[in-house]
Amino acid sequence: MNLFKKEAGTDLQEHSLTVGKQHISNLFKQNPNRFEELSFSFGDMLLDFSKQRVTKKTIKLLSTLAEQCDLKKWINDLYSGVKINTSEDRPALHTALRSPRTLSLQLNNEDVIQQVHENLDRMETLVEKFHSGQWLGYTGSPINTVVNIGVGGSDLGPFMTSKALTEFTPSSKNKIELHFVSSMDGSHLSNLLETLDPCRTLFIISSKSFSTIDTLANAANAREWIKQADQHANTPEELLIKQHFIGVSASPEKMIQWGIPSSNHLYFWDWTGGRYSLWSTIGLPIALRIGMQNFRELLAGAHEMDNHFKESPFDQNLPVLLAMIGIWNINFLGITAHAILPYDGRLSHLPSYLEQLEMESNGKCISRQNETLNFNTCPILWGEIGTNAQHAFYQLLHQGTLPVMCDFIACSKRYENSNSNELKRQHQLNLSNCLAQSQILALGDSVIENAENSPLYKRYRGNQPCTTILLERLTPHTFGMLIALYEHKVFVQSVIWDINPFDQWGVELGKTIATNLLPAIEDPSRINELDNSTRGLISHIHR
Ligand code: F6P
Repeated sequence: MNLFKKEAGTDLQEHSLTVGKQHISNLFKQNPNRFEELSFSFGDMLLDFSKQRVTKKTIKLLSTLAEQCDLKKWINDLYSGVKINTSEDRPALHTALRSPRTLSLQLNNEDVIQQVHENLDRMETLVEKFHSGQWLGYTGSPINTVVNIGVGGSDLGPFMTSKALTEFTPSSKNKIELHFVSSMDGSHLSNLLETLDPCRTLFIISSKSFSTIDTLANAANAREWIKQADQHANTPEELLIKQHFIGVSASPEKMIQWGIPSSNHLYFWDWTGGRYSLWSTIGLPIALRIGMQNFRELLAGAHEMDNHFKESPFDQNLPVLLAMIGIWNINFLGITAHAILPYDGRLSHLPSYLEQLEMESNGKCISRQNETLNFNTCPILWGEIGTNAQHAFYQLLHQGTLPVMCDFIACSKRYENSNSNELKRQHQLNLSNCLAQSQILALGDSVIENAENSPLYKRYRGNQPCTTILLERLTPHTFGMLIALYEHKVFVQSVIWDINPFDQWGVELGKTIATNLLPAIEDPSRINELDNSTRGLISHIHR
């Protein structure tokens, strides 16, 4: 059976019977120059695929498969605003969000890049107001604490990025304390509110749709908190909201309905997918943390990767290679688990960000032609800071029964200007762990002498395919490149699998059923229509 009904698919299947059956350590014995042949760089980023179960020929065949799947045309469609999100009848134009002002792109007779920059300029004015201490709360004190209320794409991207780039906080500015609240049950928010001063706290309500119940429930709670704090002063509610709430959404009407005046709105567009939105005004918390100049650097880094993706030949193209080697692992070697292992505490939220980006985009089993697929798509993806995971789930990676592909992500340089020799040493220690782990995972205990004399429980079989991504340093620019790299990787895989990566119908039914169940949770006499388990659980809750 030919997986993708393409000639290169058949060739890859044949190829998998030889190269795919080899141990990675043998591949190194056969070719000691694997690193030179199978690592690729662009700008300050290097991707090493030599610890994957591939050869030069695999890369060639995978590039041919990408060509036969019309990837070039799909990339052009993505960038030019064709409605490739067919089930929602929209383009997916996150690349426009990081295009420089000098470019233009017409959509419905409007230049979207100019619109993007108008909104960025508006955001800059707002950020300046906070950083200069001019945004005042209801008692006249400057706001010094901002809480972002959002979930999914309206939370994970800004949360991850502002954490990763904290050291780029401009020192000259009025420091803003930043918090992120997402959990529907109120636990994030209620614990946090106890520690905050309402007079100096502002909430950003971030929601593309402005109808996500998780976010609206937290927002209502925050509004009640501000109102209660002000109850003696009796400031009119409109004024309180104006001083303490900003809305970021693609739905201005819903923000108005909620009570946020248009002066406090930041917009983005329905052609920005939630999980692709950190580059838009959803990035306001990032800009508050690192300043607008650094935020623009983040966009510039992503744009550099966009250009590389659009223009480079497939066999030199980092997102294409990352994606196609994933396809090789998933569809030809049968690997369906993927660990994301950043060796850098600043990237601690990258795994959960990528969980949404990859699994919400490509966790699909129906093709663009509305047919059920007969091959695997997105693997299970999870991760943790590498050195912490070494004390947790690495046991499974080394000696469990499952094949897992792994991305190791690290920075070559860090703490160069620090006075602390201990910190410099910690960086080296961290790098040595990163390299050691990918070495053992790929090569097994062939890297040590006399391993064959050890009992089986002390042996390491290796052969887990590993990619190492090295950034020279973590900066807004390289971080922008890294996230755009993964975004494009996801897109390439969707093209090969022939699925729409920009919708997420699979999460909709849960929202409807939860809404339908609410009355039965409030009033257990209404449980009769439900299934036996749900009825039993609700009765138990009320007992
Ligand atoms: O439920 C899934 C989802 O729609 C994600 O795709 C999105 O990022 C998240 O909810 C939040 O949506 P919104 O920004 O509209 O509140």
